[in-house]
Amino acid sequence: ADKGYKLWLQYAPIADAVQREAYLEFFNQISVVGNSATHEVIRKELRLAFSGFFPNNAVPEIGDLESGNIWIGRSDVLPASVKESLGSRLSHLAGDGYMLSVYEGRVIISSKTDVGLLYGTFALLKAVQKREPLATLEILDNPRIATRMLNHWDNLNRTVERGYAGFSIWNWHRLPKHIDQQYIDYARANASIGINATSITNVNANALVLTPVYLEKAAALADAFRPYGIRIFLTARFNAPMQVGGLETADPLDPAVREWWKEKANEIYSFIPDFGGFLVKADSEGQPGPHNYGRTQADGANALAEALAPHGGLVMWRAFVYSEDTPTDRTKQAFDEFKPLDGKFNDNVIVQVKNGPLDFQPREPFHPLFGAMPETPLMMEFQITKEYLGQDTHWVNLASMWEETLQADTFAKGKGSTVSRVLDGTLHGYKHTAIAGVANIGTDRNWTGHPMAQADWYSFGRLAWNPEADIREIAEDWLKMTFTNDPSFVDPVVDVMIKSHAILVDYMTPLGLHHIMARSHHWGPGPWVTGGRRDDWTATYYHRASEDGIGFDRTEAGSNALEQYAPEVRDQWRNPDTISLDYLLWFHRVAWDKPLATGNTLWEEMALRYQRGVEGARWMKQTWLAQEGRIDEDRFEHVRSFLAIQVDEAEWWRDACLLYFQQFAQQPLPSGVEAPK
Ligand code: GCU
Repeated sequence: ADKGYKLWLQYAPIADAVQREAYLEFFNQISVVGNSATHEVIRKELRLAFSGFFPNNAVPEIGDLESGNIWIGRSDVLPASVKESLGSRLSHLAGDGYMLSVYEGRVIISSKTDVGLLYGTFALLKAVQKREPLATLEILDNPRIATRMLNHWDNLNRTVERGYAGFSIWNWHRLPKHIDQQYIDYARANASIGINATSITNVNANALVLTPVYLEKAAALADAFRPYGIRIFLTARFNAPMQVGGLETADPLDPAVREWWKEKANEIYSFIPDFGGFLVKADSEGQPGPHNYGRTQADGANALAEALAPHGGLVMWRAFVYSEDTPTDRTKQAFDEFKPLDGKFNDNVIVQVKNGPLDFQPREPFHPLFGAMPETPLMMEFQITKEYLGQDTHWVNLASMWEETLQADTFAKGKGSTVSRVLDGTLHGYKHTAIAGVANIGTDRNWTGHPMAQADWYSFGRLAWNPEADIREIAEDWLKMTFTNDPSFVDPVVDVMIKSHAILVDYMTPLGLHHIMARSHHWGPGPWVTGGRRDDWTATYYHRASEDGIGFDRTEAGSNALEQYAPEVRDQWRNPDTISLDYLLWFHRVAWDKPLATGNTLWEEMALRYQRGVEGARWMKQTWLAQEGRIDEDRFEHVRSFLAIQVDEAEWWRDACLLYFQQFAQQPLPSGVEAPK
């Protein structure tokens, strides 16, 4: 039952005797050179791994001398002979990057930093988990993005906004005095994939977290995370100066307000000396912000940035801003508001942009701000929790979706100006680089609810470290470390993971449909949702189905959101005859009987895709059923029962959407599409 809890750090016993002996050669003599708290957690992790890999052997002493068949030490303490043999490769180490190299039969793990050594240690343990021979290991791996971060949407009462894996793991009530083992295991898991920052509170923020009672608790978490190289950020409610500071205003240009933020920052740093900074949602969905005072997003962000600057803190200012009165296509508003402010932000501000211009749909085109803000560091916000993607019970490997965005070409500086190059700073020379994922972690015993959703946490970390990493390799690594190296399991299951996103898009929102989920909780189909408080929270606003056709016209003839992209991108998408069918109804309004490149009419294509999605979900389930006996029964059974739900819900999506849209299409279902139940 513990297997789910252990995530990808199972350290399963090495069954093969020859292999075991080969690894023991190395593991019986380990040196960790250095005495920081991080060195201590490295030793701890090695001992834990040892007892997992070699359950029948006594854990040996881990020395700190310059001997050892595994030798772990920073590059500045490397013995001269080793330094010489590694030569120029050492000079390629950057940031918390690390290298693993074999020298005279010893594995050398080195880095410029202590945390880099921890990352290198995890790389070694990963190699063993994958049963790779150590004698030929050669790795030099530097992070491409500096701040790799989780965003927890956790409230102080321990509910989690859009969380589907139980309650918040932060037990505020027991903090600061009790540091739960789960916090340590959280830090281990994050460090093992290079995550080095975490924002622990909801973006829909409660200003109370900025008061001493909570700062003391947050500081206890920061202390626990520090040896693992993880820094804490907090969400700052924009009107905190009023709510907890007793001021009359939160106007960012008011000197008293600025002074309040400065004092607040000083106070926070007295609790948490390496505090990362603030994550801010302002002027969005009821959150207060600079608009309340007629100020710009830059005015707002800079007031907070100024307060953090003396301490080296950052402001992550979200671009998820849209107006209460729906003046225009919601997908255009962030760009309209932020683009003119390029270059107006203080240089410790990063603007945090969701992957797409709407809101974490199963598929969105990349956000047009990427590539459009050369003078302002932009960071990515992905959602790891599956708000709009079936929530806890659907298995969909998000890495495929993220890869699509990361590889998208903005053409900001000609061909090859991918989103990943915006994020890693190479395209515009950003001073700060960062990426965030909205966590899918909760108190469920397996952390993420769906056992397979652990892969999304894992993949996020891997892509944050290297946004161009191969997602198939990531999935394979994760499966091997989490379940088994048995290829008869890994091969078919990787295949399921890689195809799962396309399958889900087919049964939920094919052809560029978006935001047709049920109202407010966003679970299950709701293409009929209309009316209510605001238009741009309804399905009918987005799909606009009528007897004439369906889709949101974002060309010149419509909202012209297309105009926010580079000309080359516009050219790809402006023509309904040549645009990828994946984005067709995102950008175009199309008649039901329009013939598509596939040879089907729009209506036929839609129906066939919904059907294909259902068949895909069934195939996932069948493939999984064939895995019985290859892994532990608990997790096998858990995934099996969730897949049964997923298949049911895929059928539900298909039937609901096709019955609803058929009223407008007024045509029969094409052959091959099952009659709705
Ligand atoms: C979505 C989500 C909200 C969340 C918001 C945000 O709209 O439904 O719960 O607060 O995104 O990212 O701020």
